[in-house]
Amino acid sequence: MRRSRLAAAVVALALTAGCSAFASDDEDVIRVYSGRHYDLEPAFEAYAEETGVSVEFLYGDDAELLERMKAEGEDTPADVFMTVDAGNLWLAAQEGLLSPLNSPTLAAAVPEGLRDPGDRWYGLSLRARTVMYNPAAVDPSEFDATDTYAGLADPKWEGRLCMRDSTNSYTQSLIASLIDVHGYDGALDIVEGWVDNGVDIMPNDVLILETVDAGGCDVAITNHYYLARLLEDNPDMNVVPYWANQEGNGVHVNVSGAGVIAESDNPEQAQQLIEWLATKGQNSFVDGNHEYPVNREVQPEPLIAGFGEFDYAPINAKAYGDLNAQAVQLMAEAGYE
Ligand SMILES: [Fe+2]
Repeated sequence: MRRSRLAAAVVALALTAGCSAFASDDEDVIRVYSGRHYDLEPAFEAYAEETGVSVEFLYGDDAELLERMKAEGEDTPADVFMTVDAGNLWLAAQEGLLSPLNSPTLAAAVPEGLRDPGDRWYGLSLRARTVMYNPAAVDPSEFDATDTYAGLADPKWEGRLCMRDSTNSYTQSLIASLIDVHGYDGALDIVEGWVDNGVDIMPNDVLILETVDAGGCDVAITNHYYLARLLEDNPDMNVVPYWANQEGNGVHVNVSGAGVIAESDNPEQAQQLIEWLATKGQNSFVDGNHEYPVNREVQPEPLIAGFGEFDYAPINAKAYGDLNAQAVQLMAEAGYE
């Protein structure tokens, strides 16, 4: 964690001082701009060891990195753009900052629902935002297996729900996906139903899960890996994941992913790095954060494999990107804060 903060400080310095972003201008180095702030070191170190090609990376927030790539244009020192949200990947592609790749390896490794239809970015790790419940308070047969998120608007859940605040990007992507599936008015009905049920809105997923464990809420929606983290320390937690929408369109997921920067001077090696991350490098990239590999040939770590298999809804990155503003507006209209 300390290393992440240091790296972020270096970014800020480079941005304000206008000096070169990276330490070296060695040609046999892949350079990554990353909005993902965790689990890069182990993966890149393993890659360097295996291939002899080292990787330098620079953290930043997404808006900052997009602006930087646009401003640098063909002078960019970077080869790969990586980030944690499909909406952000879509935005980078939309701005023309990423090259379409012709890669049979990536086409085989990354399922269609987790990559750009135009091959400009590929998901590399998967996180699921699903229902979590306290088994002492809820029988899973109470959930609507077809439309689980919408089902939580049913009055039987009154006074029993905890959810994440509206400023959080995970919440915004989930609501954008509800708009994508149900239309604005349909999604508004759902979110108003949660509000009518007196949903307790909280500032982070860990607090939400601890509240479910303590009996303060019966049911919540969080990312799966926060439960994995807590279970590492306390395997007896009273929280169980329920895979949403398994008789419908599948659980809501998002990806961390990457693409080759259109103005990269080293696109072949950049592509090779992404191919490695999607194949041999999957576990080194996903396991530290308890995420699922996108590649179906790769086993998830045992802790999250224990949550059971699930079907997920294909990512509509355009919706996550395009509908974000509507999602924010919808929550305000519903009184969901
Ligand atoms: Fe997270």
